[in-house]
Amino acid sequence: MDHFLYRDGALYAEDVPVSEIAASVGTPFYVYSTATLLRHFQLFDDALEGTEHLVCYAMKAASNQAILRTLAQAGAGMDVVSEGEYRRARAAGVPGEKIVFSGVGKTAQEIRTALSEGIRQFNVESEPEMEVINAVALDLGVVAPITVRVNPDVDAKTHAKIATGKSENKFGIPISRASEVYAHAASLPGLEVIGIDVHIGSQLTELEPFKLAYEKVAELTEQLRSEGHNIRRLDLGGGLGIPYTRSNEAPPLPVEYGKLIKDTLGHLGCEIEIEPGRLIAGNAGLLVSDVIYVKSGEGRDFLIVDAAMNDLIRPAMYEAHHDIVAVKEPAPGTEMQPYDIVGPVCESGDTFAKQRNMPPLKSGDLIAFRSAGAYGAVMSSEYNTRPLIPEVLVNGDQFAVIRPRPTFDEIINRDTIPEWL
Ligand code: LLP
Repeated sequence: MDHFLYRDGALYAEDVPVSEIAASVGTPFYVYSTATLLRHFQLFDDALEGTEHLVCYAMKAASNQAILRTLAQAGAGMDVVSEGEYRRARAAGVPGEKIVFSGVGKTAQEIRTALSEGIRQFNVESEPEMEVINAVALDLGVVAPITVRVNPDVDAKTHAKIATGKSENKFGIPISRASEVYAHAASLPGLEVIGIDVHIGSQLTELEPFKLAYEKVAELTEQLRSEGHNIRRLDLGGGLGIPYTRSNEAPPLPVEYGKLIKDTLGHLGCEIEIEPGRLIAGNAGLLVSDVIYVKSGEGRDFLIVDAAMNDLIRPAMYEAHHDIVAVKEPAPGTEMQPYDIVGPVCESGDTFAKQRNMPPLKSGDLIAFRSAGAYGAVMSSEYNTRPLIPEVLVNGDQFAVIRPRPTFDEIINRDTIPEWL
């Protein structure tokens, strides 16, 4: 459920007409709904009620500080994967003890920053990384709390580029080697082993892969405990999918996911952490764009819009589907017509949708890409020297620009010309 609905023939973001934001900030732009962000966070928090837990929002999905602060004020922790994310979370007001550090290649510098300024735990991905965390901790005279990310060799049944839990993926250590790796960790005086971490992929639309992975984690918890490790926290990653089409998709609900967690792991008495990103932010954001031209091609019409692959790369990168709607609600009975919806970037890959049925549209009409809140703005670039587009946050009848559009001068003046030129 989200808070982007038609009212009196116009698309609203909560209580604000989308067209009013467009008139104020110009197109294209991202707009997020506070109510949707909070609702989705709450669904996870409620799903784990009765179990000691922390929902650590995977901020890679949408990392604007206004979004982070909204969620942090509701009680969320953060899952970060870089020093930049760590610093951004801290700047948004998230305390170190609510920040989990994930990621396959944490550098010594990143580890030092987190250890000096406060961290809940590192999710360690390899033995060499474990050695570096140990060395940095000893150097700083502290002990680093860690879990080890195990790769359970489970098929997440999602797009190959976002599956992470098979043995051929670069993530975690093979679960078959866990015993050995945990013994190694326990021998390092700068580390305190507190738990186990697992994350098998993103946009999972079935519970079965989670079940298989969590059953393996349950078994491993008992095994590691019998080997003398005080396993007391389980980080179960993120990955629960969202409906990208309004019509036929119904991925499992957070409450069902929460029940699965309790059923598979509840008996162990561990504190549970989860790291959802997409389900919290995805349907809490729209990308709003303007039709520049309608062009008649050979047997097809193109809608050339002012958003492009640099603003939303998911269709080009993962063949992802985003529902696209007209901001002005089509009158009942309007006959739809197929368009190829494309951006202005000089690549055929800059195609958002082919033969998509839309109401008849003309230059100057606004359209909105749904489900664009996660992995939208954060994956955007300035390709073709197109400025990063603004982000706007709506809360009831108020809205605020939470990242302004840079000027061309700001972009161009970042380059420096060497003296010899
Ligand atoms: N935890 C870890 C360790 C992760 O690697 C990820 C996502 C998450 C949590 C959050 O997963 P989520 O709940 O959002 O599914 N750019 C891609 C998605 C990449 C996901 C990467 N890792 C896309 O646009 O579909």
